[in-house]
Amino acid sequence: MNRLTITTRSPAQTSALGAIIGRHVQTGTCIALDGPLGAGKTQLVKGIAIGTNVPPDVMVNSPTFVIVNEYPGRVRLFHIDAYRLSGSPEIVDLGIDEMLATGVVLIEWAQRVADALPDDRLNVSMAHVSETEREVTLQSPIHDHAQWMANLTENLDNTPTHN
Ligand SMILES: Nc1ncnc2c1ncn2[C@@H]1O[C@H](COP(=O)(O)OP(=O)(O)OP(=O)(O)O)[C@@H](O)[C@H]1O
Ligand SMILES: [Mg+2]
Repeated sequence: MNRLTITTRSPAQTSALGAIIGRHVQTGTCIALDGPLGAGKTQLVKGIAIGTNVPPDVMVNSPTFVIVNEYPGRVRLFHIDAYRLSGSPEIVDLGIDEMLATGVVLIEWAQRVADALPDDRLNVSMAHVSETEREVTLQSPIHDHAQWMANLTENLDNTPTHN
């Protein structure tokens, strides 16, 4: 399965979805997050951090003063907000290839720098449904994520979260 749409009904559920994704990411994984302001991209990243065992005292937020945030966990997580970047060349200059060689890259507003991202990535598109609901579409054009995507929905209600 390479495409799945899930509706989350709270920030905690989006975090829980992120945690399931986080348990399956590996060095070299690029996760491209898109959707409008407040769609929940950062909320999902917080969950991914939980799922990769980033210690709970590590702050996970959109990078503001620096362009890339790095979190330590089972794998290294590099968190980029392309909203603040001028475009694809900047992400190449930032060393995205080196980041993918040593960890997982999570990019908010990824469409802005799509040319510079690997084709083999997990695209996550988020949209508002209501004040507390978000539609999250996961799509992976190359890599087959069938194994964990198949039971994603079932697991969603039972996943512990910290955020
Ligand atoms: N089901 C939901 N999933 C995620 N967030 C939700 C949900 N329902 C309500 N929210 C709220 O929506 C907001 C999402 O904020 P978040 O910072 O994650 O968005 P974002 O997509 O990263 O925005 P930005 O483009 O500004 O970085 C939070 O205030 C969160 O509490
Ligand atoms: Mg954000």
